[in-house]
Amino acid sequence: MPPKSKKRRIAKQMHVEITWKGDSLGTINGETYFTSACIDRYNGESLRLKQHDVIAVNDRDAAKKQPNLALINLFWEKQDGSKWMEIRYFMNAHELPPSLKKKAKIRATKDDKFIVETTTIDELPIAEALYVESLEEFTCNMLYSTLTSSLTQLEQNDDGRASRSFVYSHRLKLKSFQNSESNKMAIAPEDIEQQLQTACDQLQLSSIPEKLIGREDERRQIYRTVHDAIQDGRGDPVYISGLPGMGKTATVKEIIGSLERLRDKQQLPDFAWIEVNGLHMPKPDMAYSIIWKALEKHQFSSKTFNPKKARECLHALFSKSSASRPVLVLLLDEMDFMLAGKNTVLYNLLEWQSMATSKLVLIGIANIMDLPERLPPKLRSRFGVHRIAFRSYTHVQIEAILTQRLSSLRVFEPHAIDLVAKSLAHQSGDIRKALMVCKAAAENALRRYLETKTNGIVTAKDVEIAQTSMSQSPLTLRLKHCSSIECIFLLALYRELKMHGVSSAFFDAIATRVETLGKTAGLTRIPTYKELEHVREELCRSDILRVLKQGTTPSNPNLSLTFSHEELQDAFGNHPIGRTMLWT
Ligand SMILES: Nc1ncnc2c1ncn2[C@@H]1O[C@H](COP(=O)(O)OP(=O)(O)OP(=O)(O)O)[C@@H](O)[C@H]1O
Ligand SMILES: [Mg+2]
Repeated sequence: MPPKSKKRRIAKQMHVEITWKGDSLGTINGETYFTSACIDRYNGESLRLKQHDVIAVNDRDAAKKQPNLALINLFWEKQDGSKWMEIRYFMNAHELPPSLKKKAKIRATKDDKFIVETTTIDELPIAEALYVESLEEFTCNMLYSTLTSSLTQLEQNDDGRASRSFVYSHRLKLKSFQNSESNKMAIAPEDIEQQLQTACDQLQLSSIPEKLIGREDERRQIYRTVHDAIQDGRGDPVYISGLPGMGKTATVKEIIGSLERLRDKQQLPDFAWIEVNGLHMPKPDMAYSIIWKALEKHQFSSKTFNPKKARECLHALFSKSSASRPVLVLLLDEMDFMLAGKNTVLYNLLEWQSMATSKLVLIGIANIMDLPERLPPKLRSRFGVHRIAFRSYTHVQIEAILTQRLSSLRVFEPHAIDLVAKSLAHQSGDIRKALMVCKAAAENALRRYLETKTNGIVTAKDVEIAQTSMSQSPLTLRLKHCSSIECIFLLALYRELKMHGVSSAFFDAIATRVETLGKTAGLTRIPTYKELEHVREELCRSDILRVLKQGTTPSNPNLSLTFSHEELQDAFGNHPIGRTMLWT
């Protein structure tokens, strides 16, 4: 096990002489850095060490016979003349925490050749290096993050070890090293394009890693509650809240996936799950039809999907006791958008859920933390028990998530990732935005590389450019400052597009949706049709909306947005009115 804390130790009085090889990297705070050193022992042995070599060092735990393996980050000489090295430990796979071993299907053998990289850094006197080890005979295809207690699978024959050193090192992150030639990550030219392309793919929002860093506590709570509810055939609803990009949906879906695997191994009773997204429904009562239609796939048959009929069918189904019917886990994502009208849908779902016969488990997700308080008292009490609020991601978590996604690639300068993590943690802690900034920066670098065949590394400068262009284009600025009525109009259009999976919507449909949305958002006054026409004209003048020729009539134009859905979400996530009405 790598030592837990980074305790400095006094160099042992050993009979050795250490000399530097090669030029120094420079002096920072009175300490001079090197990439290579030689240890000459007085028995005549000599040991040459280089940056990124794997070495053996004695474990501090004297009882442990095996030395630890570690990777050298770099060397330095202190002002008092003592010579040090920064290292990153490996550990034996059988020493991993039992839960991780179980998940990664690592059997409890004591195979000393099966090791994992860790993120634990230490500083030792150079004299403590025992010998240089080749990893050829070892299996090492996982990274154990001691910070987040997670395992990341590395590529087979992964050679990104050196670049990961830059990510996890403390010393290599010193600002003065960022531009040092010797620290530039060398990638074969033929690999650069491929690596940049892979980085863009891995940064996509749709690519969800198996392990979600930084959500361990929330995951544990939700997992336990839903697992027990499936086991017992009933349980109280779970309500999850948090601002956009906090990993709510991703965490719940990952949990459901894990529970499905348990079910498939017959370690959990049979269950089915259905996702209903409030944002994708024109009217809340569509939920009945969606659920009934989805249930049909799970062996219940019906010919009608009319909401009223579907509600009656569902009521009949849930009121009847059945030992053979599987538990139904119902995920109500973007649940705040189901709160239009008299909340009858939510009321009915909660009512059914409380029936002993229903075998219904509800998981609600929304951005509003106090949503239960906004419900009528009868509904409020039902949502009271399991409430989990997702907090913003911290700088360290954002850095770890981005590094996890890019772990086998060497196209991001560590300082670039650090910059995204710091600025996003400072602004909103929104990981979606962090991924979008990194992806835009990687796309920039790829474009540049394809044009010039040089500069294939994503630098801090690329990140700054991506951040500026995402936050300060005239359009984004205009969006950020739009009025509440414009904000609602655009969100109504946005939902029309999302719901029908199209790129344009008619004014009349948007106007109808504005009415529902206004009620949901608790607007004191719903804008009139005339007012909405003015808003539409103004938004067209500002180049936010475009009128398409196709299908357009003078009174009912066909409208589309002039920018991506992500840009809209992004601008409204920080919009003073939009945010209060929609996200909080
Ligand atoms: N811990 C994490 N590790 C890796 N990727 C993550 C993590 N959390 C979130 N993501 C990624 O960020 C994206 C946004 O996460 P998610 O959709 O779960 O956010 P959300 O909290 O549901 O936001 P919204 O309220 O807008 O729906 C997802 O595509 C997911 O891949
Ligand atoms: Mg979500």
